[in-house]
Amino acid sequence: MHPLWVVLLLMSSASLETYANNIEECSIKKDASHARYDHTRIYNVEFATAAHVELFQALEAQSDSLSFIGHARVPGQKLSIMVSGQKVADFDNLLHSYNVSHRILNYNFQKLIDASYCEVAPLTTPVEQFDWKRFFQLENIYAWLEKLASKHPNVVTLLDMGTSTEGLPIKGVRISFGGDNLTSVFLESGIHAREWIAPATATYIIDQLLHSNDAQVQTMARSHNWLIFPTVNPDGYRYSFTHDRMWRKNRALFGICRGVDLNRNYPFAWNTTGASGNPCHYDFSGPTAGSELETQRLMKFLEQRVHTDRIRTYLALHSYSQLIMFPYGHTAERVHNYADLKDIGQLAAARIKAYSGRDYKSGSIYETIYPSSGGSKDWAHAQLQMPITYTFELRGPPDSEDLFILPANEIEPTASEAFQAIQTIIEEAGKRGYYK
Ligand SMILES: *[C@@H]1O[C@H](CO)[C@@H](O)[C@H](O)[C@H]1NC(C)=O
Ligand SMILES: *[C@@H]1O[C@H](CO)[C@@H](O)[C@H](O)[C@H]1NC(C)=O
Ligand SMILES: *[C@@H]1O[C@H](CO)[C@@H](O)[C@H](O)[C@H]1NC(C)=O
Ligand SMILES: [Zn+2]
Repeated sequence: MHPLWVVLLLMSSASLETYANNIEECSIKKDASHARYDHTRIYNVEFATAAHVELFQALEAQSDSLSFIGHARVPGQKLSIMVSGQKVADFDNLLHSYNVSHRILNYNFQKLIDASYCEVAPLTTPVEQFDWKRFFQLENIYAWLEKLASKHPNVVTLLDMGTSTEGLPIKGVRISFGGDNLTSVFLESGIHAREWIAPATATYIIDQLLHSNDAQVQTMARSHNWLIFPTVNPDGYRYSFTHDRMWRKNRALFGICRGVDLNRNYPFAWNTTGASGNPCHYDFSGPTAGSELETQRLMKFLEQRVHTDRIRTYLALHSYSQLIMFPYGHTAERVHNYADLKDIGQLAAARIKAYSGRDYKSGSIYETIYPSSGGSKDWAHAQLQMPITYTFELRGPPDSEDLFILPANEIEPTASEAFQAIQTIIEEAGKRGYYK
């Protein structure tokens, strides 16, 4: 045999072996169509001057090989940026040329993604084994919701908002221990596909409301009705497992790119700030306000239910940055109950600090994270007059090295501290007369 063939044979058997190991250990199998982030670095940069801000605005507009987690806005701001392998040298050089202070948070993002895919429960996992030690795919989450509805027929009702762009159902549950005249809490999560901790936290909350032995939790569970939808962007969520761990938007097709950022698509102050008109960008607001099927499904559900179900509380789960935010996102102008929302948010953050030691900050979306428009909760607060409206950015911290890739052993701590904060929100809003 020609020596070259021997080498090739050895090489291919070695790579086959690695592949076989991965199949054994990981339920998400790598295949040729998965996006890869080998040698993608995560930089955290800090802008000292207006010139730095302008430089990075120009850079974001120019480069396809950089993924900004947020936009360059103001001096003093820190920003995380994913830099793909072929751009590392140029990017690093630019930082030094302009004396931009920075840290490298990660040198090979694919390693994190590989580890993350190994923490996903196999699709074949029996529904009895649903837990908060692994991440679960859409089918498993829906099977679990269905099981709850059949196991607790007098308490849990399966809900379905209708189908997504790609024809998947948007399923949720109504939890009601009896008391049709109670006020309701609505919770949405998974609007951004890659924020896997959000659906995991939503299912944890459902589980606690139904099964907690804590008397205070039981009292709270029975004092409201609960409408909970763990994955309001099912197409995107599915795609984050099957093709690209970093996918954020829905999967609607616009020319050469896909996806509307559903949390920029709601018809309130739509496309005014912190949103893009370009379908290739991560925060594309859509061709028109409320253009997307997923947006329309959620709006219709809430419009039909807001009065009959007396929905007074709207909660949305996202990651990351450890924030408890309230409207508005598009302006520094304050909502009519700003003072209450600020107080309650700060008490909720203090509850987390006492519970787990984690630092969460609270404030309006505009003043805490960054200006953005067309978000679901701004619409719910302004158009449907739902007064108690909070968006959580769950773990990790703002300078997280993992970005959206939270290890599975942080699901329970993250979800349980969020649930503590939600208890404070419900208690404090009640004390202030919002649930009369
Ligand atoms: C570079 O930036 C640092 C910190 O931002 C500053 O202290 C230093 O003076 C700058 N150097 C130059 C040459 O501008
Ligand atoms: C609920 O409210 C309706 C309308 O206000 C009232 O007729 C009904 O008696 C109430 N039911 C309970 C259980 O309080
Ligand atoms: C949304 O805003 C962007 C940025 O201002 C603009 O370029 C785009 O045309 C707007 N989209 C629509 C449909 O008006
Ligand atoms: Zn998000």
